[in-house]
Amino acid sequence: MQDERPPSARLDTNKPSIARVYDASLGGKDHYAVDREVFEQIRAVAPYQGDVSRMNRHFLVRVVRYLAGRVGVDQFLDLGSGLPTVQNTHEVAQHSNPGARVVYVDNDPICNAHGRALLEENERTHFVEADLTEPADLLANPEITAHLDLSRPLVLMQIGTLHHVADERDPAALMRAYVDALPSGSYVALTHFWDPEDEDPELHRRARALEHQVREAGMGTGWWRGRDAIASYFGGLDMVPPGLVELDDWWPDGPRMREAWPEEHLMLGGVAHKP
Ligand SMILES: C[S@@+](CC[C@H](N)C(=O)[O-])C[C@H]1O[C@@H](n2cnc3c(N)ncnc32)[C@H](O)[C@@H]1O
Repeated sequence: MQDERPPSARLDTNKPSIARVYDASLGGKDHYAVDREVFEQIRAVAPYQGDVSRMNRHFLVRVVRYLAGRVGVDQFLDLGSGLPTVQNTHEVAQHSNPGARVVYVDNDPICNAHGRALLEENERTHFVEADLTEPADLLANPEITAHLDLSRPLVLMQIGTLHHVADERDPAALMRAYVDALPSGSYVALTHFWDPEDEDPELHRRARALEHQVREAGMGTGWWRGRDAIASYFGGLDMVPPGLVELDDWWPDGPRMREAWPEEHLMLGGVAHKP
């Protein structure tokens, strides 16, 4: 049964939440001691995990700028959008295309409270509390269909989300349901923690250690998966060049100024197109 209490009453400040730990990793302000503690434990095995989170945000910004600007898509469904930060999806999209509509979705009550207050700054931007693991319910959600026309091309964003969905929930099947429902001309943008497996034994070892730490440190969620599993989440769509790559290799803003930290290699992302 749905919990009808207001978001603030549903906040549990004694347990870490994915959104708040991520906010701590980005250097934000919307988190509690319990979240900082978890992030510090993660940093014990991956000292540059904060850079990984920033790299993930930079990927999001480049993708949204490209799709809203150069490609001209004007609808964005940002699933597992997290807490408001700098350069939120609607700011980037509407900067390139002022008519762009953005719906943010997250199931964390703190994202609801802050999202509605801070992100809904115009009538083309909305926040909806919903579960991204229920594609049929989500795509039929009247709060979403009131703001996005799901018969016209849109961008479905799964940025840093599916690695919080357990194998038992079958992320490939749930993505297939989304992809099947998308109208022609739509795009899927996705990032995911990556275990390079036999591509790089040293990075593989680090990915295993990091996953162990993240799950043990009280988050209980966070899976570093292989390349083929992550590729399957695009549901067979055509990959936009350069394909599924390390995040800083997807149309970077310019030449590298330093070597990547080991943990920065442990994420893949890409954009796919439905013809
Ligand atoms: C690591 S954050 C990523 C935030 C943002 N997409 C980004 O990449 O900057 C993952 C977000 O997914 C949300 N999330 C996890 N499972 C979810 C679910 N089943 N339904 C909706 N949101 C979910 C979390 O609450 C969190 O805000």
